[in-house]
Amino acid sequence: MSEETPDSEEVQSALEYLEMLKEGNMFVGKEGMLEQLTRLAKQGVHPLEVFQSMRKPVQEEKMPPVLSSFDMEGIARYIADKGCKQVVVMCGAGISTSAGIPDFRTPGTGLYDNLQRFNLPQAESIFELNFFRKNPGAFYELAREMWPGNFEPTPAHYFVRLLNDKGILLRCYSQNIDSLERRAGLPAEKLVAAHGNFDEAHVIDTEPEIKVDINELKAALDKGEEGWRALKDAKGGLVKPKIVFFGEELPERFARLHRQDLATCDLLIVMGTSLVVQPFAGLVGYATRTAPRMLINRDRAGTCDSLKFGFRFHLEGEDNWRDVFHEGDCDAGCTALAELLGWDKDLQALIDSKGQASVYRAPWVEASET
Ligand code: OAD
Repeated sequence: MSEETPDSEEVQSALEYLEMLKEGNMFVGKEGMLEQLTRLAKQGVHPLEVFQSMRKPVQEEKMPPVLSSFDMEGIARYIADKGCKQVVVMCGAGISTSAGIPDFRTPGTGLYDNLQRFNLPQAESIFELNFFRKNPGAFYELAREMWPGNFEPTPAHYFVRLLNDKGILLRCYSQNIDSLERRAGLPAEKLVAAHGNFDEAHVIDTEPEIKVDINELKAALDKGEEGWRALKDAKGGLVKPKIVFFGEELPERFARLHRQDLATCDLLIVMGTSLVVQPFAGLVGYATRTAPRMLINRDRAGTCDSLKFGFRFHLEGEDNWRDVFHEGDCDAGCTALAELLGWDKDLQALIDSKGQASVYRAPWVEASET
């Protein structure tokens, strides 16, 4: 697979434009916005592009329908008839809620509604670099609670694994930091942990970056404030797990792979995400125009009214040629799709064996491999 990095001229021009706005005092009191725009600019996204996408829905050129019906049956028929081999999955916190991990934004149960004890200026501050620099204790306390290890993958995670074992998964892009995709047995090269995870730790604000063994951080946090202060002194700065905070760039792997993957995919499945965090949400719009896209979620998300080239499943007739919304839980949606494909026993075997079972390739993949 060829590598793609943002064009350096695009980055240069985006950064220069930001500099100009900064000189015009446009970001006074809006430092968070400046950080987000700088992060996007470094990935080649021009601030004007961001402002435009915030302002008006972008018109897409229509196409003849690529699905026989705009529901899960239509997707299952498409997979089998077309012999899909390049499926891209995008997922978020909703695929892990049945494992007992709360999502972020569901009113009442989501993490952001349950952070009162930290007295934050706003809920998202817990994942903001500026806030962490001044008040590391809040994140550290939360990190101890969120530390992976006590959770098991869900049927939705095993469904992604199933797609891989069937030979039809190109990549899974996950916003989750719980590493449950890997725990379900998804090979590392098939996963892009877009918001990082707890596999590694680093000293913030270091260039070149100083890495720290994640177990060292865990041991320090287990000792409470005294522990993390001692670690800070020993390492010359605050240490945090390599999960992506607002104001930080996404991993290099995300920048390198996403455009090529989305341009090649023959089906996009999006599950359990509100699609409000950029640049992840923008991946939906990068999927090639002939690839069907299906959202499995409790709520509608990522429609073209709010997201550039977003889903069009809410539009009538020729305005939607490829998008499906399957309303409901990720586990149920994945199980239903597996059933329609005749892969339900394979999925169940993976769930029951905690990923130990082996499954046959999809017939069209097997035929192409022999
Ligand atoms: P959100 O909490 O924003 O959205 C989760 C979505 O999943 C919502 O639309 C829920 O209705 C839906 N949902 C929850 N449980 C579900 C289930 N069992 N089946 C189907 N749908 C379900 O979470 P994300 O979109 O993942 O960033 O959030 C994106 C990012 O925002 C996170 O990665 C995190 C956060 O700030 C960082 O930490 C950097």
